[in-house]
Amino acid sequence: MPELTIAIPRGRLQNAALELFAKAGMCLAETNDSRRLAIEDKSGQGRFIFVKPADVPVYVEHGVADCGVVGRDVLLESEADLLQPLSLGIGRCRIVVAAPSEIRRNGYGILRVATKYPHIANRHFGKQGQPVEIIRLSGSVELAPVLGLADCIVDLVETGQTLRDNGLRILEVITESSGRLIANRASYQLKAQAMGGLISSLKATAREGMKND
Ligand code: PRP
Repeated sequence: MPELTIAIPRGRLQNAALELFAKAGMCLAETNDSRRLAIEDKSGQGRFIFVKPADVPVYVEHGVADCGVVGRDVLLESEADLLQPLSLGIGRCRIVVAAPSEIRRNGYGILRVATKYPHIANRHFGKQGQPVEIIRLSGSVELAPVLGLADCIVDLVETGQTLRDNGLRILEVITESSGRLIANRASYQLKAQAMGGLISSLKATAREGMKND
């Protein structure tokens, strides 16, 4: 029975996360090009499960996974009680306010904001005293201001290509995001040796990667 279960987010962080684990000595026993959602590690010490990014904190908080990789963007939205032992230096991006052009804000009119990040957006505009109507979407957020569903978006920007392709520009950077290792509180204590070993190897690997940036 593998000692550690590790939740890997499908999508943008998946490959970088797996590369980091491989360099730290844990790699998939078989390629994950199928629809299999759980794959053992070659060494037998672990097992990877592949889940949607927003679900990684849920699996880890409930202890179904001992640890996982997740973007800071997801953590800022999640209310899960987790440990965050390590910043991994992968998937660097920004969370921004973007719109087709400058938006008029007088503090009285309600701004319609389309986003996958309702908490981040609410907190950001709340600090500015700007009333907002949050329009919650789960993808293709850039379409909302183009089609008149919203005045602006709060979304993640990595290369900026999606914004450019849809005629949007960055008005404000809310915060930076990158991949984090998160851990279940109980696993961190009860599997201290395995978790400690994994964290040290990942730390060395992540540090090496950051040096080469
Ligand atoms: C994210 C984000 C933007 C895009 C930004 O979406 O919501 O749409 O990536 O990346 P870029 O700056 O490199 O163009 P994602 O690819 O995760 O897909 P989604 O729209 O289905 O959520």
